[in-house]
Amino acid sequence: MTTTMQQNTTIHYSELGFVNTTDMFKKANEGGYAIGAFNFSNLEQLQGVLNGCIESNAPVILQLSKGACNYADPIFLRNMARGAIEYVRSQGSQIPIALHLDHGDTFETCKSCIDNGFSSVMIDASHYDFEENIRITKEVVEYAHKFNVTVEAELGVLAGIEDDVVAAKSVYTNPDEVEEFVKRTNVDSLAISIGTSHGATKFKPEQCTRNADGVLEPPELRFDILEEVERRLPGFPIVLHGSSSVIPKYITIIEENGGRIENAVGCSEVQLRRTATSAVCKMNIDSDCRLAMTAAVRKVLKENPGEFDPRKFMGPAREWLKEVVIHKNTNVLGSAGKG
Ligand code: G3H
Ligand code: 13P
Ligand code: ZN
Repeated sequence: MTTTMQQNTTIHYSELGFVNTTDMFKKANEGGYAIGAFNFSNLEQLQGVLNGCIESNAPVILQLSKGACNYADPIFLRNMARGAIEYVRSQGSQIPIALHLDHGDTFETCKSCIDNGFSSVMIDASHYDFEENIRITKEVVEYAHKFNVTVEAELGVLAGIEDDVVAAKSVYTNPDEVEEFVKRTNVDSLAISIGTSHGATKFKPEQCTRNADGVLEPPELRFDILEEVERRLPGFPIVLHGSSSVIPKYITIIEENGGRIENAVGCSEVQLRRTATSAVCKMNIDSDCRLAMTAAVRKVLKENPGEFDPRKFMGPAREWLKEVVIHKNTNVLGSAGKG
């Protein structure tokens, strides 16, 4: 994060009412479900995620990327997240909420978030070689654990865009490396690469098949790698980035209302459900929320060309995002009712 969270005093996440991911992941592992980690960078996204998790009574990880912090300003976001706890409790909900840094790029970024109320951080040094990834991850873990903050790291590289890092193709996680990595870093969870990627085009059209409705169907994820990782790290929390399914309904609405999303293809929800019943305890979902909001905004504005009150299109966008979150918690993650 180039924008570090500057303030004179530090604040611990427990003072804000957040929890780290330890207990969430333990329960998810034992219960055969995964926790939704939803990104936000504005008020309506945060409200949509929270309302969806309150309604479906699901634990939640609120994620902030470096891009989100640069866009909305870390001070705003931190205080919005603080308000999230107060809002959720005012609704009579006791769901556990973690505040997580998504794709932290340096030790300094992670430290800044830890010092400013995050309960969990990801250090993404996966584009470095194995030894350097271990060195940076270990440094973050040693600092984070002093404050009981949990740390996620990554082995393998996802294709697509991870903030400023663009990878042309994925490098699958090598199961031979996972035990040594976890042992030497003492990390709390591990993101692995098994074929998912970030964004709305997760697979090239030539990797997919077209179903009877003309919709592109994705190839199978590398369940063999996931199973081997699980065998080598029994009970250890695994994270899946790029877990959006790029729901065709929203692509259609976007395209019917003036938008164009080229080669939209996401993960199969059936396959995602299968990973959620395995060692995968956390699924990162951002694109599906963005697409639902965009679909709502485009539809309202196309149908009401004279509308210029943001509440008239951001309100429906927030509502559609909430519906996506409920759907994910209920039908994909299995976290509904586990709050
Ligand atoms: O992994 C990336 C997340 O979808 C966040 O994306 O960097 O555009 O905020 P962003
Ligand atoms: P999607 O682009 O599939 O939503 O993935 C988001 C993600 O992994 C954030 O870290
Ligand atoms: Zn990611």
